[in-house]
Amino acid sequence: MNRYSRLLVCSDDFCAVSLLLMTEKRQFRAVKGTRDILPPHSALWNWFEQSARETLQSYNFREIRLPIFEETALFARAVGADTDIVGKEMFTFLDPFDRYERQLKFLDEELPKLDMAAQDLQKYLRDFSRKLEDLPEGDSISLRPEATASVARAYIEHGMQTLPGNQKLYYVGPMFRRERPQKGRYRQFYQIGAEVLGQSDRPAIDAEVLEMLLVLFRRAALKDTTLYVNSIGCQECRGQYVELLRRELQKIRDNPATAGKLGPDSQRRIETNPLRVLDSKLPEEQPVIEKLPRISDHLCAACRQHFAELKEELTLRQIPYKENWRLVRGLDYYTRTTFEVTATGLGSQNAVCGGGRYDGLVELLGGPAGVKGIGFAIGTDRAILSIQESGNVPRLPGLSVFIARMGAKAYPLAVNVAGKLRARGLAVELPPQEMKFGKALGLADKLGASYALIIGDEEVSSGTFTLKRLADAQQKKLNENELLEYLESERRGSGA
Ligand code: HAM
Repeated sequence: MNRYSRLLVCSDDFCAVSLLLMTEKRQFRAVKGTRDILPPHSALWNWFEQSARETLQSYNFREIRLPIFEETALFARAVGADTDIVGKEMFTFLDPFDRYERQLKFLDEELPKLDMAAQDLQKYLRDFSRKLEDLPEGDSISLRPEATASVARAYIEHGMQTLPGNQKLYYVGPMFRRERPQKGRYRQFYQIGAEVLGQSDRPAIDAEVLEMLLVLFRRAALKDTTLYVNSIGCQECRGQYVELLRRELQKIRDNPATAGKLGPDSQRRIETNPLRVLDSKLPEEQPVIEKLPRISDHLCAACRQHFAELKEELTLRQIPYKENWRLVRGLDYYTRTTFEVTATGLGSQNAVCGGGRYDGLVELLGGPAGVKGIGFAIGTDRAILSIQESGNVPRLPGLSVFIARMGAKAYPLAVNVAGKLRARGLAVELPPQEMKFGKALGLADKLGASYALIIGDEEVSSGTFTLKRLADAQQKKLNENELLEYLESERRGSGA
């Protein structure tokens, strides 16, 4: 007998849903490239995201909540059909619901025709199943590999160009790329992103975005970061540069003396996307790439001035940076400013943030002309990893009070005081069953509680509580008001 028993649920011939019922015992594990973020680790994530939210809000960015999947065509158009992200890494599926709806509509039209003579029925059924198979598939949908495309789509869809000023938006959430998992690289990973969309492309906007990023990293204990900046020009000057680059790369490829110096990926990119050759990390390709023409020597006057002004702005704001002429980024929508931030302790996946300007994107997606954009996305997984590797993990508040109670009369008092402490922002554990005091204090210790609140017969009759600080076993007798005030002031003092 088969290991699995198969259950077929059919509402009719046309709609069949098959369910595999597993009969064997097995344990499930998170799918490759995804992971669980467990407590107490999750507290560090919350703290990091909260620090980011506060920093973003202090620069007047407001949150936009976006869908986790979009039409595949949106990413193909925005990020670029020839990029690795769209070409190889998206989780794409046909929306079965969409096909199901079409099938239902088809049935609605067809069923009335069923009133026919038996001899016609056979032919009718043959046609019916052919037509059913010919119905178009569902729409192609992809889990979002990034969110800039979604922000631009939402900006257009909601006519945000009519709102006053630049739109300064941020998002926090998971992204999905089918990459080979390794340290710092996951298939479901998290980003905190910020985007500015509007009529202006002043370099002051780029500089403010970069300043905000570094303030955020400082606030979130992310040390030893390096900011790299570049300008990859506009459609015009970049187009000419790309052609020059392609010609130079073709010469290398076609010259027998240098032909072997470029690997298969770079050879392919000479035709599809020569800029991406500059991204190569292969050691054997480096000497060739270093000799290629540099975009900084081929920017048009307007792009050169934009980049020069950006650098002045960075100096004005005392933002340390390094120029990297090879920083072209793997997404097609960028124009002019591109940047990346690297951090220590991450091995080869050391970029904690990437971003840049994307002035033509809104128009490319069918929106109004002239809208400019710039933004970044921080890879939260990598930021957290770097904080941990550098040993800068902040002390985060955990369990404040464990309530140890004995005796029937202690229980209502314990429930009451637990409610009051929680209302004042303290984390309180009230065990569901009575425990001997020794056992309760042992558990409080294991749970990492700061205090044990002891409520026994004596406390009930005297109307006081015994509060024991677990770090040094110091005890205090306090009435309810004193207790609430004391613990609240402790909480404020610890910043919890
Ligand atoms: P990106 O460089 O593709 O840019 O991603 C930004 C950051 O997300 C990376 O620097 C990295 O920290 C993190 N990241 C990317 N892929 C993974 C992965 N597989 N596992 C873990 N972390 C990863 C963008 O996504 C653009 N949308 C940024 C942007 C916003 N440009 C303008 N506005």
